Amino acid sequence: MFNTNHSLQAALEAFRWLINPFDVQLFFRGIFQKRALVIKRGSPNFFSGLFNTSSFVKMLQNNYLEYGVNINIAKYTNGVRTTLNGTGRVYTGDVMKSYNEGCSIQCTNPQAFNDEIWYFCEILQELFCSFVGANTYLTPPKSSGFAPHWDDIDAFIVQTEGRKHWKVYAPKNPREALPLESSGNFTEADMVGRKIVFNDWLEQGDVLYIPRGFIHQAFTDEKSHSHHVTVSVNRKIAFVDMIEKILPDVVNLVAEQNKEMRFSLPPNAFDMAGVIDMRYDNEEAAEQRILNPLVSVAKNIQKAVTEYFEAGVDQMALEFMKTTLPPMLTPEEQALSVFGKQGIDLLNDKPVKITLNSQIRLIRKHAQRLIFETEDSYFLAHRMANSRVYEGRPEQTIPIPAESITGYISLMDAYPEWIKVKDLDCNSKKENIAFAGLLYSNGLILLKPAANEKEQLELPSSAPKNGTIKKMKKKRNTTA
Ligand SMILES: [Fe+2]
Repeated sequence: MFNTNHSLQAALEAFRWLINPFDVQLFFRGIFQKRALVIKRGSPNFFSGLFNTSSFVKMLQNNYLEYGVNINIAKYTNGVRTTLNGTGRVYTGDVMKSYNEGCSIQCTNPQAFNDEIWYFCEILQELFCSFVGANTYLTPPKSSGFAPHWDDIDAFIVQTEGRKHWKVYAPKNPREALPLESSGNFTEADMVGRKIVFNDWLEQGDVLYIPRGFIHQAFTDEKSHSHHVTVSVNRKIAFVDMIEKILPDVVNLVAEQNKEMRFSLPPNAFDMAGVIDMRYDNEEAAEQRILNPLVSVAKNIQKAVTEYFEAGVDQMALEFMKTTLPPMLTPEEQALSVFGKQGIDLLNDKPVKITLNSQIRLIRKHAQRLIFETEDSYFLAHRMANSRVYEGRPEQTIPIPAESITGYISLMDAYPEWIKVKDLDCNSKKENIAFAGLLYSNGLILLKPAANEKEQLELPSSAPKNGTIKKMKKKRNTTA
């Protein structure tokens, strides 16, 4: 566990640990999505607490892992990758057999079955603002599991056992860099003439960063097997993903505001222009009647994007809440949340009572996001109840009354500190308690009951405040 109660700080600590001793600032300034980086530590036990073959065996024995869904058996011989999956549940004996026949064993979502990988990926999500997932690869000696390819994510190859030789190639040109889709399999011949940027062994305890779009291939040595974890970040959070998300709304907004956007195309437009190089009867009118109005509309769209980008960030956060891993709570966090302490006595323990003097705090800074749907409709999207399997459960949202918006802002402003329910800044003390109850029952906050009975008996009394929304909007610019 990373020693901080601030989730973003914990994410930074986790990342610092991953690339240690390389500097985090230097990484984001000079390496991130630009070049590959290897960190050779000479410390074979560095990742011993994260994952190894015996954790993999436990995963197989304690869970229903299926061929093609969770586990792939692959072989790469003479430049061709073959998938040799069985059917149904994967048992340790089957894996042993495949391994002895020279196959690589890939687990596509170990975070769903292994708590250490879950915690590590989950915590990194707040730093990268995206789903962080993992794959594990067990490869026997003198073998390779996959053909050269690039991925649609940035990958950290974490060598947890044995050693593996990696070849990494830079994109040929800017057009090939940072692709939006993974590539198919390349052949050895395709690699000729490409610039190789890493061609060396990754030893146990080492890390290799491979940016999206860098082709990579790997093989084990004569004597040693390899078990590595690929941690993948930055899934579908490129600017193009953001603009695709907001453009339909922006276009509608511009169309509402600009009459020229709603004019019909001129009569006979099809005789003014087209892609095929041929004679168009009214070609001379195309610029004035079609191109110029279109450029003018595009300028309005550009202007609207500058006004809409904050909502665009919210849209990306909404997607984050929908797709990311749920937080893994410590036993202490569980005890103070709706989940309850370990060994709770259902028959004799008292249910939690929320009073004005109860202290509360959000469990994570980015486990929830307040979204404005319309001027008077708000909801909290959250990832507290997400599945550990990618998009395994529908989007989780809670409608929030307008009177409670400032209560949410008080909590975010206070994070990671505790705040008393009476200081929540909703419209009234009664609403403070109702809002705290709503967040608690949805698993979003930790709660410490009031210290004593006298404090517990304090009753709500203040009158509603006015101007809630105005205050909220003013504050909104200053909150993350
Ligand atoms: Fe890959």
